[in-house]
Amino acid sequence: MGSTSKMKVLDCLAPLFIACLGILGCTQAVTLEVKEGNSTCIKAELSALLFITYTTFNSTSNVSTSLPDSTSVDAASSSCGAAGRPPWLVAVFGSGHALGLSFAKNGSFYSITNLTVQYNLSDTSLFPQSNGSGVVTVVSSSVGIWAPINTTYRCASPTTIRAGGAAITFSAMRLEAYMPGNDLSPTESVCAADQTTTTTAPPTPTTTAAPAPTPPATPATGVFSVTNSSGTVCLLAKMGLQLNVSYVSQSQNKTVQELVNVNPNLTVTSGSCGGTTASLVLTQQTTTLNFTFSMNSTTSKYHLSGINLLANWSDMTAPFSASNTSLDYLRSTLGRSYMCNTEQTLLVVPAFSLNAFRLQVQPFGVTSSQFAAAEECQLDQDQMLIPIIVGAALAGLVLIILIAYLIGRKRSHAGYQTI
Ligand SMILES: *[C@@H]1O[C@H](CO)[C@@H](O)[C@H](O)[C@H]1NC(C)=O
Ligand SMILES: *[C@@H]1O[C@H](CO)[C@@H](O)[C@H](O)[C@H]1NC(C)=O
Ligand SMILES: *[C@@H]1O[C@H](CO)[C@@H](O)[C@H](O)[C@H]1NC(C)=O
Ligand SMILES: *[C@@H]1O[C@H](CO)[C@@H](O)[C@H](O)[C@H]1NC(C)=O
Ligand SMILES: *[C@@H]1O[C@H](CO)[C@@H](O)[C@H](O)[C@H]1NC(C)=O
Ligand SMILES: *[C@@H]1O[C@H](CO)[C@@H](O)[C@H](O)[C@H]1NC(C)=O
Ligand SMILES: *[C@@H]1O[C@H](CO)[C@@H](O)[C@H](O)[C@H]1NC(C)=O
Ligand SMILES: *[C@@H]1O[C@H](CO)[C@@H](O)[C@H](O)[C@H]1NC(C)=O
Ligand SMILES: *[C@@H]1O[C@H](CO)[C@@H](O)[C@H](O)[C@H]1NC(C)=O
Ligand SMILES: *[C@@H]1O[C@H](CO)[C@@H](O)[C@H](O)[C@H]1NC(C)=O
Ligand SMILES: *[C@@H]1O[C@H](CO)[C@@H](O)[C@H](O)[C@H]1NC(C)=O
Ligand SMILES: *[C@@H]1O[C@H](CO)[C@@H](O)[C@H](O)[C@H]1NC(C)=O
Repeated sequence: MGSTSKMKVLDCLAPLFIACLGILGCTQAVTLEVKEGNSTCIKAELSALLFITYTTFNSTSNVSTSLPDSTSVDAASSSCGAAGRPPWLVAVFGSGHALGLSFAKNGSFYSITNLTVQYNLSDTSLFPQSNGSGVVTVVSSSVGIWAPINTTYRCASPTTIRAGGAAITFSAMRLEAYMPGNDLSPTESVCAADQTTTTTAPPTPTTTAAPAPTPPATPATGVFSVTNSSGTVCLLAKMGLQLNVSYVSQSQNKTVQELVNVNPNLTVTSGSCGGTTASLVLTQQTTTLNFTFSMNSTTSKYHLSGINLLANWSDMTAPFSASNTSLDYLRSTLGRSYMCNTEQTLLVVPAFSLNAFRLQVQPFGVTSSQFAAAEECQLDQDQMLIPIIVGAALAGLVLIILIAYLIGRKRSHAGYQTI
């Protein structure tokens, strides 16, 4: 956790930002679905920019084009994988251009085995002065996109795949094949690029040196928010966070347990919002903490379903990575926020737990950048019960003493009279 790594984050952000503005032009997203009967087997939400080099009569030329809104799935060529064919998503756009993604799976993972780009040099609006004509097909079979079965592959960072004279850059990608339901699985598998870089504004520059890794004091409360593409706040969180991590120390040559507070002043916030999943990613130098919230649309209840920690602290023998995607914490209802003032320990894996203080979150249904009415955790309700119980007990005691006193007084009074 050195200040140099902070610079790395900033250095990574700048080209991303420029790429988005300049080259990608923040290309529009398309949603593509392959169906068999009524069930969806492949679904992809992505933005893509194609970069193609072609020969003209007297030289070579480059053209770049993004997948237009009108891109559609070619149902005749696409397949869910019946009759021994692999699942194949074929999207067509413009005048005879196409993009194909072919999938395969093994026991636990699915992957894109090959990517096909087809472009029609006869389309003179896209390829002016091309000396060739007709459709060119190029294939890449080293795509490197894979995820565990029953999870959605997510990658906000741009990923470029080259095939022949074409290069295709995907961004804001979410996709799944071999889908168990008709919607993308709420559990996401985040690509490596997203785990090391973030996609929102850089942090306010601070001159603070490397954070002290051992402040077991109560962590400062930070306010974190995620905005959607239209610039409105869609996820809100207010909390103090403390990481409790066991790792093998380089200097001590043994497993140590360390408490590290998240310093909101040094944290870069990013994330995403969706109808049924939302994520909050907090990056502090070489530490990335990722929360995934899931909503059950039938019951309109949401909960914290996943926590992922990546840490590369200087004393670690190897970068630390811990993830649990089947958590059930912070349960609340759509239209409400979840609040817990009492300290909560969220166990993620045996080597990593997260202590949360003065927490309030709302991952769905945020309106006008404010928390909705809170549903308070049981711990807070119990805490509130203690003074009530103590109060009631005290009141009872006073009553008993009073009655005892009155009875006593009456008795002694009666005693006097008999004498
Ligand atoms: C698809 O859904 C429609 C209406 O929801 C139904 O009538 C039809 O039988 C379904 N087809 C299949 C193949 O399940
Ligand atoms: C290529 O040829 C076209 C006309 O055929 C001409 O307009 C253009 O300037 C030429 N480009 C080069 C680099 O010579
Ligand atoms: C290629 O583009 C030309 C001109 O736009 C068009 O006539 C032709 O049908 C296209 N080829 C295919 C396979 O769509
Ligand atoms: C790519 O995948 C498609 C669909 O599975 C297949 O038809 C094609 O032969 C594959 N190409 C290569 C080069 O593997
Ligand atoms: C399954 O596929 C993934 C991704 O392609 C690969 O990393 C993994 O080793 C494969 N597992 C087996 C058992 O083949
Ligand atoms: C197109 O240009 C390339 C390179 O200049 C040349 O090798 C090729 O023969 C040309 N093709 C046609 C159809 O003119
Ligand atoms: C994926 O989910 C489906 C339905 O929920 C289930 O039947 C299947 O066993 C799951 N597969 C894996 C590898 O978890
Ligand atoms: C940190 O985690 C360990 C178990 O891994 C636990 O014994 C310890 O009490 C935790 N400390 C705090 C302050 O939560
Ligand atoms: C670390 O400890 C192990 C045994 O606990 C020992 O074998 C190893 O030599 C030690 N390594 C260093 C660098 O001290
Ligand atoms: C964060 O910054 C504020 C104002 O600059 C400062 O008052 C506060 O102490 C800082 N908090 C931490 C944990 O460094
Ligand atoms: C939503 O909740 C209902 C009732 O608890 C449950 O039956 C259903 O499986 C849940 N759906 C999802 C997608 O988790
Ligand atoms: C972890 O940090 C070390 C030293 O700062 C660096 O050499 C290494 O590449 C980092 N590893 C990862 C996965 O970022």
